[in-house]
Amino acid sequence: MLIEADVLRAFPAIKDIADGRLRKLSTDVWRYVSERNPAWTDIERIPLHPTMPIATHGNLVKHVIAMARLSEALVPIYRDLWNQDLDLDTFRAAVYVHDAAKVIEFTEKDGGVVGIPGYNHAIEAGRIVRELGGPEPLAHMVEAHSLSGPLVVPRTRDAQLFLLMDPMCLNVFPEQGPGVLERHLKANGREDPKTLERYRSPI
Ligand SMILES: [Fe+2]
Ligand SMILES: [Fe+2]
Repeated sequence: MLIEADVLRAFPAIKDIADGRLRKLSTDVWRYVSERNPAWTDIERIPLHPTMPIATHGNLVKHVIAMARLSEALVPIYRDLWNQDLDLDTFRAAVYVHDAAKVIEFTEKDGGVVGIPGYNHAIEAGRIVRELGGPEPLAHMVEAHSLSGPLVVPRTRDAQLFLLMDPMCLNVFPEQGPGVLERHLKANGREDPKTLERYRSPI
């Protein structure tokens, strides 16, 4: 079982969320998922995916922290260049809760991690946000964040940006095996296109 202190230790920047309701939502979602699968006691042991070992790709905590830091970088860029005022607290809260349902989806077994087949952690996280009374626009950002598996198309600016941020914050590159985009194409039933020209590294 993960308690609030575990979540705050892994993500100390949750305390920077100024909006009290969004700050509370950021830990409440973790409590909710942990009650459904209490087997996880160390949040740092949760991988990105059963096929992405932590030793190679880093853990889920690092992915979430990367998205929080990218959110902080994006806010001034979109304001200065396009007059688009992103709400940093909304992005932060969406970041902290968006992959929390992996606590339900994944279980440690025989030295590895297994997932529940067909489970969509993004749609489930959106449902949990709604059940806990979180804002509807944030629930949509969360449910539409994943390119893995049948895609929920983003219907808002924030949801579109959030979906694009997610794969940027992964240490999963073609030099290490299948890269993020190749994995996502496959998960949506698309194979690597059979084009004549292939990228050939000069070195
Ligand atoms: Fe995800
Ligand atoms: Fe993610």
